[in-house]
Amino acid sequence: MTATFKTLDELDLANKRVLLRADLNVPVADGKVTDATRIERLVPTIREIVKKDGKAILLSHFGRPKGKVDAEFSLEQVCEAVANATGHPVGFVATDWTEMSDAQKAIESAPAGSVLILENTRFHPGEEANDPELAKRMASLGDVYVNDAFSAAHRAHASTEALARLLPAAAGLAMQAELEALEAGLGKPKKPVVAIVGGAKVSSKIDLLENLVTKVDALVIGGGMANTFLHAQGYGVGKSLAEKDLAETALRIMDKAIDSGCAIILPIDAVVAWHFKADTPTRLYGVDAIDKDGMILDIGPSSIERIQGAIDDANTVVWNGPMGAFEMNPFDAGTVAIAKHAAKRTHDGKLVSVAGGGDTVAALAHAGVKDAFTYVSTAGGAFLEWMEGKPLPGVEALKK
Ligand code: 3PG
Repeated sequence: MTATFKTLDELDLANKRVLLRADLNVPVADGKVTDATRIERLVPTIREIVKKDGKAILLSHFGRPKGKVDAEFSLEQVCEAVANATGHPVGFVATDWTEMSDAQKAIESAPAGSVLILENTRFHPGEEANDPELAKRMASLGDVYVNDAFSAAHRAHASTEALARLLPAAAGLAMQAELEALEAGLGKPKKPVVAIVGGAKVSSKIDLLENLVTKVDALVIGGGMANTFLHAQGYGVGKSLAEKDLAETALRIMDKAIDSGCAIILPIDAVVAWHFKADTPTRLYGVDAIDKDGMILDIGPSSIERIQGAIDDANTVVWNGPMGAFEMNPFDAGTVAIAKHAAKRTHDGKLVSVAGGGDTVAALAHAGVKDAFTYVSTAGGAFLEWMEGKPLPGVEALKK
């Protein structure tokens, strides 16, 4: 990582109250955490604080309680998962973020090396408003600030932005790893770079596509969004999902790619079905002959081969979004084949592979290669904004 951020080893943690901005916004069902990946990534930083006799005081949002205390969104329900992941007892500190004396006392009386979780920062409206007064109250609970929540860094909120400016601040180990991986993906990548972008809609990824075509050597477009590009080029896409009103946007992005020397790789064949459901009959078509009543639900084998060839030519791959309706059999085949190929090239030492975004992580897990990529970001919106080339307030606030 560039030396623009303070790192954890540059902060004096010994006997300090360390406010650790974590992202404990994890999936919970029936009061139990169902995917602890984000929590597991926090473990090295928490252990480091504990090892140095600091108090690790975790701040996080959880869900979107809209500035009100709401038991459904209490962070108390993730304490057990944090204790399991760290192997350390975890205390919970209730607060509504208006008056801090009880929280201060609880933190004061906890012994050195304690791990505590404060109540949901979004229980107070000042969190999302990046309210300086709330940030001051937060700062009164700690001596130093560490941010390990890359996935919340696109939010300019009190606990991610204003607070970072009030105390000595550093990136935690997970944040540092994330920033280093992203730097290797798009910041200063080993070229050639291929970006693979899929998912349903162009409309949610216009900025991302516009930024990528100026940065990468080839851009693979798959998923529902490829249909919009195919339509824009005059191909019939039958009853497929396509944002036909964005045809001009798609053509503009393609022109920009030509100007920037970025090759656009669109599907050349597609798996078509007549019902949007699992295990329904399918047929393979060239994209110039899609049945007028059919729906494109995955890329076909010739497209897979072409994308795998592009991966073979690349030193770096950045991936966001599935190639088809991967949640349903057999429309996962394209995504799985591409994911496995990128994983193998990575394993063979031929490729740096960076992936992120909610659906992407689920797709890689489905393909059984989540741990085989160089780096998989657990961030959703923050990963997209990073791919869009936008500065992230939570990262900016950590700059020296
Ligand atoms: C996420 O899950 O992407 C982050 O925790 C941010 O959550 P938010 O979209 O509610 O701000």
